[in-house]
Amino acid sequence: MSTEPRRLLPLLSSHRPGRSAVTCEYRCGNACAHPAPNTSANGYFGDVARSVLSRRGALKATAVMSATAAGFAALAGTAAAEPGVPAALAGRGHGGRPSRPVPGTDFEPVAPNTADAVTVPEGYDHEVVIRWGDPVLPGAPRFDFHNQTAEAQAKQFGYNNDFVGLVPQDSSGWRYLMVVNHEYTTEPHMFPAGTYDPDNPTEEQVRIAWEAHGLSVVQTVRDPQGGLKVVPSRYNRRITLNTEFEVRGPAAGSDYLKTSADPTGRKVFGTQNNCAGGVTPWGTILSGEENIHQYFANADAVTDPVEAERLRRYGFQDGESGRKWERFDKRWDIAKEPNEPNRFGWVVEIDPNDPNSTPIKHTALGRFKHEGANIKITKDGRLAVYSGDDERFEYIYKFVSNGRYKPGRSAHARRHNSRLLDDGTLYVAKFTGDSPAEEIDGSGTLPSDGEFDGRGTWIPLASGNVSHVPGMTAEEVYVFTRLAADKVGATKMDRPEDIEPNPVNGRVYASLTNNSDRGVAGKAGADEANPRNGNRNGQVLEWEEDGGDAAATTFSWRLLLVCGDPAAADTYFGGFDKSQVSPISCPDNVTFDSHGNLWIATDGNALGSNDGLFAVPVDGPNRGQVKQFLTVPIGAEACGPVVTDDVVLVAVQHPGEDGTPEDPDSHWPDGGTSPARPAIVAVWRKGKGGRSGRIGF
Ligand code: FEO
Ligand code: CA
Ligand code: CA
Ligand code: CA
Repeated sequence: MSTEPRRLLPLLSSHRPGRSAVTCEYRCGNACAHPAPNTSANGYFGDVARSVLSRRGALKATAVMSATAAGFAALAGTAAAEPGVPAALAGRGHGGRPSRPVPGTDFEPVAPNTADAVTVPEGYDHEVVIRWGDPVLPGAPRFDFHNQTAEAQAKQFGYNNDFVGLVPQDSSGWRYLMVVNHEYTTEPHMFPAGTYDPDNPTEEQVRIAWEAHGLSVVQTVRDPQGGLKVVPSRYNRRITLNTEFEVRGPAAGSDYLKTSADPTGRKVFGTQNNCAGGVTPWGTILSGEENIHQYFANADAVTDPVEAERLRRYGFQDGESGRKWERFDKRWDIAKEPNEPNRFGWVVEIDPNDPNSTPIKHTALGRFKHEGANIKITKDGRLAVYSGDDERFEYIYKFVSNGRYKPGRSAHARRHNSRLLDDGTLYVAKFTGDSPAEEIDGSGTLPSDGEFDGRGTWIPLASGNVSHVPGMTAEEVYVFTRLAADKVGATKMDRPEDIEPNPVNGRVYASLTNNSDRGVAGKAGADEANPRNGNRNGQVLEWEEDGGDAAATTFSWRLLLVCGDPAAADTYFGGFDKSQVSPISCPDNVTFDSHGNLWIATDGNALGSNDGLFAVPVDGPNRGQVKQFLTVPIGAEACGPVVTDDVVLVAVQHPGEDGTPEDPDSHWPDGGTSPARPAIVAVWRKGKGGRSGRIGF
């Protein structure tokens, strides 16, 4: 690990700890450097009692963090040295507690490290599947870092890959459509040193950024030697900020969505900041529009107090935008197009099976900073969609359709099922702890009943055109969902990220990445679901809907993991022996393998290691035994991920983002003096390509 201070790019002066300055500026517009937009008085009874305790908790938390930092100074070595890897995990079945590896997790864990490489367990191979600038469409020119054009980028793989979805094209497991989100652009890294001026980007540079956003669809085939190959196909597609979307659901055609370019409020060009997502049971992709605020300029031009508060609640900023797009298209200027911001912040649906389909924005799922969206079928055959709003003190949501799901992936079934997402009830979650308030002191110390756990309620916000929120119309609930949730007493969470139902045990899992503001004066203090003040390492929440029915309006919940250094007192690994787990920090994207093990990708490791991908059993005696499967290169975040029985895919997002164009700190994946390029990586068992080398057996 370098001992030099991080080098900042021009204009990058403040960012949150644990994450690169450039990431903060370009991914979320330095959201953490600004006050959290949720300043609502909304809070449940526990907040008041706990605020008395929160100062004591904050002091304890600080002490724990110092100890953690000291403990992980040792992690600066290489993977080979394996510092920080619990002895029992460095070799299978030794240490104090020999135990049979759980199917799907039988690999030697990778040690925390800071290598400029993807590091996989002994006995595994990996390879880049596709990287920024690689061809997607026919006629795409070869990537030329020194002569990039918007025309080329429109046909090439976009920047900063995040969510990855695999849609099988047959039952053989050999052919998949791979759909990838391109969350955001980091312009200083996308052009040769000295050619991009953040204060004066050229129009062509801005247009390149528009084409580098959105999604890619590529045809892939399994490689008999291992991994996945991209092949030319009529399915290959780029969706960018210039692709036409249809707005559907109860807010389609709303006055709040009308602009001079679209007086109907039903047609939007583009999608942006697509973060996580999900594959639907009918073979389409849901993708969350997340940090939408940072692309727009001049929120201060709006003086009407109601309108101004709506913009503030979503974090829209005054003055020029960071990327200066408003200079080249007035739709990014709130002073000129005050409704354009309302046309982003939705869950979008892409049908990769039909390259001519018009993508959809589903307004019934509400408008906020959607991390992703994942579906569970209710007992009576309807759809429940879970989605988190990824910002400090924001909420967890669920939508339940009125109509019933039709199994199958025919064009008819896809059309029918997609329509279900336009009509139903949108809920927000309230979590109540079952331990006495005084036992939740913000330190992370387990309460006397041995678990952070309790009960929860789904509070309805709107059903179709009927609002359940006093003082707001249904249309307002959908377009300004954060304000609706504030009014009904939803629980302020520690950055809700990916939420997915487990296909094996039926429970639902949510990553809560971190929240350094928890317990700070004037902010919500710890509660049982968010039990640490100054939370730097995050937690993983698990719940089961009452009756095992995703349509239920009540549920039971508990924390599976309270992440961080296992040696620290404020961490919890599902009750598993903490001397036998890998350290994990800042859980973000999640997925499951076919055994129901949870796989967690991290974003912003606060323990000094590069980010990575981890597997953890959630049932049986090994519940909570976190094992690190891979690490990603310097500065990168691990995204995706996809885990099939014989290949793992991870999206390596923003490698080298801490460096400057003049002095890069990553050349991954191409090495030499090449620029770092975000890429999708496949991992498989060495010498067991195709379908013979099963992951983690
Ligand atoms: Fe795009 Fe919530 O991470
Ligand atoms: Ca409890
Ligand atoms: Ca994320
Ligand atoms: Ca996921």
